[in-house]
Amino acid sequence: MSISINGSTKIIGIIGNPLEHSVSPMLHNEISSMLGKNLVYVPFCVEKERLEDAVLGLKSLGVVGFNVTAPYKKDIMKYVDYKTKSSLLMGAVNTVKNVNGRLYGYNTDAEGFVRAFRMNTNRDFKGLVVTIFGAGGAARAIAVKLAHTHVKKINIVNRTKEHADIIRDTINENISSIVETYTNNDKIEDICQGSDVLINATSVGMLPDTGKCVIKLKNIFNKNQFVYDIIYNPKQTKFLSMAQSCGCSVMNGLGMLFYQAIASYEIWVGYKFNEGELARLYGLLENIY
Ligand code: ATR
Repeated sequence: MSISINGSTKIIGIIGNPLEHSVSPMLHNEISSMLGKNLVYVPFCVEKERLEDAVLGLKSLGVVGFNVTAPYKKDIMKYVDYKTKSSLLMGAVNTVKNVNGRLYGYNTDAEGFVRAFRMNTNRDFKGLVVTIFGAGGAARAIAVKLAHTHVKKINIVNRTKEHADIIRDTINENISSIVETYTNNDKIEDICQGSDVLINATSVGMLPDTGKCVIKLKNIFNKNQFVYDIIYNPKQTKFLSMAQSCGCSVMNGLGMLFYQAIASYEIWVGYKFNEGELARLYGLLENIY
């Protein structure tokens, strides 16, 4: 990668805290370098009480846009002028575009999830029954996106049922009445066995806690299922190992990470990537993990 900064260089970036381990700067700078765009992507580690100042600063400096990561995906919504309908339902914004001093907020996380699934399986979610483990921000974004892509049914299984119920009500009241909720202690074997796709949307099993799994039951998997974990570190979580040993097709979260970045870049720059470019960039990301 070679970046040369001159008087016409424009800025994109990411705000969050901490950011030391973010791969987004590397990935986005590689993209700009590959496309020959005069853009530099910079990490901005922001303290909570300075979030508003930081956003005003980015706006005044005329940045093209920025990503937003933990812990600010919800809080940023207060400072964005326009939000997409789906980001409102997801309750989170991870991508902001600056258009003449007006900030537009989007959520590309779940878009990344759906694109990664499509690339891996060559199919979409229409008509499928999906079970999601977890009811945090990632689960909510994925559930809203899947409801918009016409899945047949979404089951949400979560340790705290009330958290899952909030997502259920949001989707059933605003999109389509397709969500049911359960706790990890319910008898969910039949529900899982009847699902086409199972998704771990929690951080349970992530490095260093690689021995953990969001669900203790083993008889939830069968060889017809597609099983997805949003975790990419480690590459193979316990959840995915259990699924693979039952013959399921499995996929980790690296594709979601990749395609959310691609979707953000498309929003900022208005560029549509071709398959060759996507394969080359994905290879770069794979080399890191
Ligand atoms: P996000 O960043 O997407 O908001 P997170 O904070 O990593 O996600 O995870 C939140 C989800 O993981 C929640 O659904 C949480 O369950 P609760 O709603 O009961 O808090 C779930 N979660 C976290 N640790 C868990 C564990 N050890 N067992 C089961 N579920 C867990």
